[in-house]
Amino acid sequence: MTSVQKITKRQFITFEGIDGSGKSTQAKRLVAHLTSLGHDVIHTREPGGSAGAEEIRRLLVEGDPDRWSAETEILLFTAARRDHLEKTIIPALAAGKWVVSDRFADSTRVYQGATRGDLRGIVDALHAQMIGVEPDMTFIIDMDPVAALSRGLARKSGEDRFEDFGLDFQERLRQGFLDLAKDYPDRCRLIDGSRGIDAVSADITAVFE
Ligand SMILES: Nc1ncnc2c1ncn2[C@@H]1O[C@H](COP(=O)(O)OP(=O)(O)OP(=O)(O)O)[C@@H](O)[C@H]1O
Ligand SMILES: [Mg+2]
Repeated sequence: MTSVQKITKRQFITFEGIDGSGKSTQAKRLVAHLTSLGHDVIHTREPGGSAGAEEIRRLLVEGDPDRWSAETEILLFTAARRDHLEKTIIPALAAGKWVVSDRFADSTRVYQGATRGDLRGIVDALHAQMIGVEPDMTFIIDMDPVAALSRGLARKSGEDRFEDFGLDFQERLRQGFLDLAKDYPDRCRLIDGSRGIDAVSADITAVFE
């Protein structure tokens, strides 16, 4: 993975936060803003972001909440991320493009911590072995899970497997993301997502004026 690490000193930006907090909305806004500044930007997402990883996404986000064991789930997420990295992220960064990803490795760290905290060591070990890349900047959109959940479930996308874990789970996720912002203060920026779309977007785009 050394070759991968060498070429990532570019603009790799990720959005993280609980379900329905506005990640996809804000990622889209930021891509439009960066494009308007003249940058070549790709907008991608996890799980998914490459043909193979999108196939794995369906296995992860659809179906019963207890469909996979925690261990199997970590392996599926890591497999999807590796394909996303190889096929989409690294080639784009190597070509001088900016990459805006809706979720990345932080989601696995936090979701795993919220379900089976004792497996966090495996998450970190797999990340070091198979991914080995951190974003240059991560926006963590923070808000009350009750308000966020009502936004998310209202969409009825058929991809509600994680939302179906319930409110307690979302509360643990929120705390997990807040802890993560403290663990990685250099790259993480905490954003208050409870406000209107324009107000949230203004905070984010202001970083790239
Ligand atoms: N600041 C906001 N205020 C009100 N509604 C919002 C705001 N941001 C997003 N929404 C709406 O809330 C819903 C969820 O937003 P979005 O899809 O961007 O969240 P998400 O974090 O990507 O969710 P998920 O984790 O489920 O993918 C959408 O219908 C979106 O239009
Ligand atoms: Mg989304």
